Amino acid sequence: MATLERTDKRSCYCAELSAKNVGERICLMGWAQRQRDLGSLIFIDLRDRTGIVQLAFDDNTDRNIFADAFSVRSEYVLCAKGVVRHRGEGAVNKNIPTGEIEVAIDEFKILSKAQTPPFEIVENSEVKNELRLKHRYLDLRRPDLSRNILERSKIVKIARDYYAENGFVDIETPILVKPTPEGARDYLVPSRVHPGSFYALPQSPQIYKQILMVSGFDRYFQIAKCFRDEDLRADRQPEFTQIDTEMSFVCEDDVMNMHEGFLKYLFKQYMGIEMTEPFLRLTWKECMERFGSDKPDMRFGYELQNISDEVKDCGFKVFAGAVEAGGSVRAINVKGAADKFSRKEIDALTDFVKTYKAKGLAWYKNNNGEVTSSYAKFLTDEENARIINRLGVEAGDVVFIVADKDKVVFDALGALRCEVAKKLGILKKDDFKFLWVTEFPLFEYDEEEGRFYAMHHPFTMPMEEDIPLLDTDRGAVRAKAYDIVLNGTELGGGSIRIHDAEIQKKMFECLGLDEEAQQLKFGFLLEAFKYGTPPHGGLAFGLDRLVMHLLGIDDIREVIAFPKVQNASELMSMCPAPTDQKALDELCIAVTKTEETNE
Ligand code: AMO
Ligand code: AMP
Repeated sequence: MATLERTDKRSCYCAELSAKNVGERICLMGWAQRQRDLGSLIFIDLRDRTGIVQLAFDDNTDRNIFADAFSVRSEYVLCAKGVVRHRGEGAVNKNIPTGEIEVAIDEFKILSKAQTPPFEIVENSEVKNELRLKHRYLDLRRPDLSRNILERSKIVKIARDYYAENGFVDIETPILVKPTPEGARDYLVPSRVHPGSFYALPQSPQIYKQILMVSGFDRYFQIAKCFRDEDLRADRQPEFTQIDTEMSFVCEDDVMNMHEGFLKYLFKQYMGIEMTEPFLRLTWKECMERFGSDKPDMRFGYELQNISDEVKDCGFKVFAGAVEAGGSVRAINVKGAADKFSRKEIDALTDFVKTYKAKGLAWYKNNNGEVTSSYAKFLTDEENARIINRLGVEAGDVVFIVADKDKVVFDALGALRCEVAKKLGILKKDDFKFLWVTEFPLFEYDEEEGRFYAMHHPFTMPMEEDIPLLDTDRGAVRAKAYDIVLNGTELGGGSIRIHDAEIQKKMFECLGLDEEAQQLKFGFLLEAFKYGTPPHGGLAFGLDRLVMHLLGIDDIREVIAFPKVQNASELMSMCPAPTDQKALDELCIAVTKTEETNE
């Protein structure tokens, strides 16, 4: 195998070549995609991160070089020099950008040999995920995955440009921080120097960025790694990245306008899409009422309608009983889709809503005048007519109804409207519908634990007019918090923060932290607030999710170079992993259970 000498300088990337370069002598470096031996002719497709170009070896090629080319196998690493020429008549490949040309090689080095890879390095691989992740270095050579990572880098660059231009200072905050859970479980790191004490990996830079505002930096920005030990989903990783920001001397509008500006800049720069209209803003309450969700997909309608009044005195116990118990009966009318949902499909939708704790799914179908329904027989003609009227049902429509506690009704119908849209195939990935959701509740009540939690985080400012309710009706307090939602995904969230030590203490109190616990966990923040704190607020985007949407990708692992799988392992390096006894002894840690003994 050869090594590079000082004269071996790459002159361009493979896919940069075209007919314009014919006659030029060039030097390429890359991987052999494949080698084709036609006897007196050898072709090698050379690949780098930009794409592929064809290297040609023929009767005019030096015999030693020809022999080397003959020995090349897939994934060998090559340095090849030669002259660009037009391909022979009939050999043009219209499918690749460099398909009109090839390079006649006159200098050639094999820099590294390769074993046969466990899967072919091609686009749209059908290979099992486990195998791809185990050999991630090979997976990342595949053009589609490689492209995602390259595009992600471009998106980050655009974010850095925008925020730098708007006066945001890029500041790194620590990765080893104090364990102060914000919601999810912390990843803990034991301290050797302080046995029995732990750092946490940050769930977000929240407190540090607020402290930076106290310090007078005015505008902060960071591409920040965040760590949350929570269950994984298609758009969730235990280790993910935020575009994290904070601003001083601002109120909600200032923050939202700044970040709306970023999204518009990004869409212009990256997608060539000009978004001139202001993004729609809805309060949390309106979102729940109309869409059953605080992150509604706005690409389609099928809005929820409350029919509680119509059915509260009806003879069907499921409906009347739900209203009587303080819940509600709500429906969606899927216009013109009666013929799209068979009984079997409705049964599947019933199972679907049951995963959201609904007890059943009532339905009414008017398939071109032929009416069928799961509940109509329990109601009088007049009661049925009132519902149909209220929902504006016409021939061809199908209606789905859930009766339950509000939370269940919202969860079930909110999810059902999306499921129905998915089934009908009306969701377009290149239709981008942004929405700001504002006035979130400050608290969320956890029924199992019988206590309130901060819906966003404990540093979020209540709306001034609701502050008196902190003592009387906590559940009704609205927050100066906002989320930015894109096509049903929460892309980012933020809030105006509490900048007053007394309100902050009150907030901690509401969350069940007594004076001692407050001092222990957040004493430094409360202390900092005593020395002159500007009003401030901010927002963090989930970078991984943003990239997913821009690239039209459904799986977060496809936009992260080294992602974790469902059980939070990383399959290439195989972590987490047990460590040796010496390291544990130094940390004064005794392992009382392992994966094996746990079973
Ligand atoms: P929040 O917790 O809402 O806010 O997070 C902000 C955004 O980060 C993304 N995100 C995730 N992405 C991938 N995997 C995860 N596990 C994950 N969790 C969150 C989401 C989310 O909208 N400090 C506050 C921000 C602020 O108030 O300024 C915060 O972290 O897209
Ligand atoms: P049943 O009386 O259980 O046969 O229910 C009649 C219809 O009402 C069926 O279609 C059920 O799926 C539906 N149903 C039952 N419980 C609910 C509920 N909580 N909300 C909406 N529909 C329901």
